[in-house]
Amino acid sequence: MEQKWWHGKVAYQIYPKSFCDSNGDGVGDLRGIISKLDYLQALGVDIVWLSPIYPSPFIDQGYDIADYVNIAPVFGNLDDFDELVAEAKKRNIDIVMDLVANHCSSEHEWFKKACADLNSEEAGYFYFVKGKDGKVPNNLRSYFGGSVWEPVPGHEGEDIYYSHYFAKAQPDLNWNNPKLREQVFNLVNFWIDRGVKGFRVDAILSIVKDLSFPDLPADDTDGMCHAAKMNAKLLDRIGPYLTELRDKTFKRANCFTVGEVLTVTTDSVSKFAGPDGYFSTLFDLSCREKIEAFPHYREYPTLSPDDFAECVFNTQELYQKVDAFVAPIIENHDEPRGVSYYMPEYLQNQVGAKTIATVLMFLRGIPFIYQGQEIGMTNTKFASIDEFDDIFAKSEYQDLIEHGYSDAEAVACCARHGRDNARTPMLWDDSDNAGFTTGKPWLRVHQDYKTLNVKSQFGVPGSTFSYYQQLIKLRKSEEYGPIFTYGRFDRLNIAKGVIAYTRSCDKCHQKIVIIANTNQEELRYSLGDQAANAKVLISANSAVLCADGTVVLGCGGAIVVAL
Ligand code: NOJ
Repeated sequence: MEQKWWHGKVAYQIYPKSFCDSNGDGVGDLRGIISKLDYLQALGVDIVWLSPIYPSPFIDQGYDIADYVNIAPVFGNLDDFDELVAEAKKRNIDIVMDLVANHCSSEHEWFKKACADLNSEEAGYFYFVKGKDGKVPNNLRSYFGGSVWEPVPGHEGEDIYYSHYFAKAQPDLNWNNPKLREQVFNLVNFWIDRGVKGFRVDAILSIVKDLSFPDLPADDTDGMCHAAKMNAKLLDRIGPYLTELRDKTFKRANCFTVGEVLTVTTDSVSKFAGPDGYFSTLFDLSCREKIEAFPHYREYPTLSPDDFAECVFNTQELYQKVDAFVAPIIENHDEPRGVSYYMPEYLQNQVGAKTIATVLMFLRGIPFIYQGQEIGMTNTKFASIDEFDDIFAKSEYQDLIEHGYSDAEAVACCARHGRDNARTPMLWDDSDNAGFTTGKPWLRVHQDYKTLNVKSQFGVPGSTFSYYQQLIKLRKSEEYGPIFTYGRFDRLNIAKGVIAYTRSCDKCHQKIVIIANTNQEELRYSLGDQAANAKVLISANSAVLCADGTVVLGCGGAIVVAL
């Protein structure tokens, strides 16, 4: 594989609203992030992705952008941003922005001008479509519930609708229009010229639309079909848009890009993230895909460690087959905390945080760590729907109630699957509001902040934070870094509840085995003949390699052995 500057790096996602608040308004900001750059450097990460920081009404927490070339006042201003990029650079950290170009905010001046004059240039930036037979143009259901169609504001009763695959306040941009595409390329280049080294590309599959706006077979009793199913159908039409985007923006600055892309196939993986792909890499969202195959929380299955491993391993094999690069994750701002979602109940704690971290950090590709994961943050305990802020959780709550769930059942369901789990403030110390803010935090603070926080773990041997530091160091080490980045991946079937795989390199005669035991029963596994020169590279939760070449892993034990 041709080497790229970002191969071998470890990335970290910041959710700016919840990272660190420097001015006491209860919302995180850029100066707060600047104040924590030393922390990120100490952790050992090289790339930091910032979820959106642009001006926004925050209907969908900034994924509804009202101005693409500015900073939301609540986060700071462009000078703060320039300082952040420069200060990060001093610490060998590159900043990656969130590129949300499937839709903008209904507060964006493009949308306002478009609604004010249906013949304006801006009207062509959106999908303004006539209804069919007195109804909306098709039966697609938006990601947040309800039809993807809404009457164009100011033109109610005129049988003209705009498309929004997400919230009503997020009108879809019309990528079919070259003028709109040019606008998008310009804004990407604006940030490249300001020093960002790449982009995380949001909801990109949704940009292709079938302009005849057909119905799809209903997938629920509401007669509608989830918009994601239309994306899957149109996947092979996206190429020209993404090639143009790459060539007119990312390519000129050798950017690192990571796509939020679900529904990948062997063919599309190679086109999206192969050596000549539209993007540098794609997130491994296979677990989410498995869960979101169901249109509502109420049908979401729970995933066992084996389900988790099955998803992750399938992805590893898929990408390896076509020489593509993947970005493994266990959580992000759209998902519950990985340790609470994929680990059994008895491992939803600091022990399990290290178990799952060991599995994640040696996979092929570029691992992403989500803020708080490095201290083992678990799901937040939400007691009432009023404690949620997320538009998705609120709409799902409504759906659950309409389907006969009691309030307590509906809240429990939102608490299990909700996106706010991972969006609660970062836990810095045991002071009020976990040291996140001196004001009133915009979202409730995690219940365990008194004991679960950075201060109690930083520099403390055996803590989850220290373990992450060691994992990252090993992952990037001169001796083993290349095998973790480029080496062959093979799954290892040991037993139910045991997640194991190898990384190997024929040329350099290296083989590394990674084993994690999520069962309560102890695991004894012989490494066989290969164990003669075996060396433990790292281990967690008292896992050991015995002199006879057997590894012994108690509940949550994890070990990485070079053979
Ligand atoms: C994916 C983002 O990660 C999510 O937070 C957002 O709600 C949707 N895309 C819409 O932008």
